[in-house]
Amino acid sequence: MPWSDPGGRPPTTPADIAAGGPDIAQPAAGGADVVIREVRPSDAAGIVAVLNPIIATGAATTLTTALAEDDERRYIAGFPSRGLFVVAVADDGVIVGLQSVEPFDASTHAFDHVGVIGTFVDLGWRRRGVASRLFAATFAAAPGKGYEKLFTYIRADNAAGLTAYARRGFEVVGVARRHARIAGRYIDEVMVERFLVTS
Ligand SMILES: CC(C)(COP(=O)(O)OP(=O)(O)OC[C@H]1O[C@@H](n2cnc3c(N)ncnc32)[C@H](O)[C@@H]1OP(=O)(O)O)[C@@H](O)C(=O)NCCC(=O)NCCS
Repeated sequence: MPWSDPGGRPPTTPADIAAGGPDIAQPAAGGADVVIREVRPSDAAGIVAVLNPIIATGAATTLTTALAEDDERRYIAGFPSRGLFVVAVADDGVIVGLQSVEPFDASTHAFDHVGVIGTFVDLGWRRRGVASRLFAATFAAAPGKGYEKLFTYIRADNAAGLTAYARRGFEVVGVARRHARIAGRYIDEVMVERFLVTS
C-alpha cells in the first residue's frame, strides 16, 4: 500500500495521522494510479456515473433511486462547510471513487466531533486500493475540520463494505435490525465507528 496502516489500526495521535496520511494530490505509489482531490461542482456527471450503476445493482447501498446530474451538482455546491468530500480521479480524468464526511447532526453542537462517512468506488475499479486512498486522505483532513470520530451504517449483507471499513480501523458498535427495507426485504444495518484521535 502507498501508506502504512498495519492491520487497520487507527492512528492515535495527530502526528500519527500526519504520518499515515498521504499528500492529497499525489498518485499512489502502488495499487490504483489515481489522484485524490477535493470535489468540484463540475464533478457531478462523473459522480453520477459512479453512483448510478451501483444503485442499479440494488446491493451494498441504501440509495434506491438513480441520481440526476443537476441534483448532484447542487448537492456539491451546497455541501456543508464543515464537510469533507474527496474524489479519486484516474489519469484520464475520469472519477472512479468518492468519499464524503458530513456533520452527524448539525441541529446541536453535541455531535460537532462526529462525522458521518460514505464511500463509493466505481464497479470497474474495485479491489485496487481506491477506497484505501480515499480513507487515507479523509483521515488526514478530518481532524482539521474538528472531527474526532467517524461513524456510518453499512448494510449487513455488504461484505465488501464491512471488510473495507474494518481494514481501515472501523469497529462494529451495534446493529440496527430490520433498519432498511429495499424491494420489500428488510435488511439489518451495522453501525461502525472509528476514532481519529485519543484524548
Ligand atoms: C466498499 C468499497 C468502497 C471498497 O472499495 P475498494 O476500492 O474496492 O477497496 P480497496 O481496494 O481500497 O480495499 C480496501 C480493503 O478492503 C478489502 N476489500 C475490499 N473489497 C473487498 C471484498 N469484496 N471482499 C473482501 N475484502 C475486500 C481489501 O482487500 C482491502 O483490504 P487491505 O487493506 O487488507 O488490502 C467498494 O466495494 C464499494 O464502493 N462498495 C459499494 C458502496 C459501499 O459498500 N460503501 C461502503 C459503505 S458506505
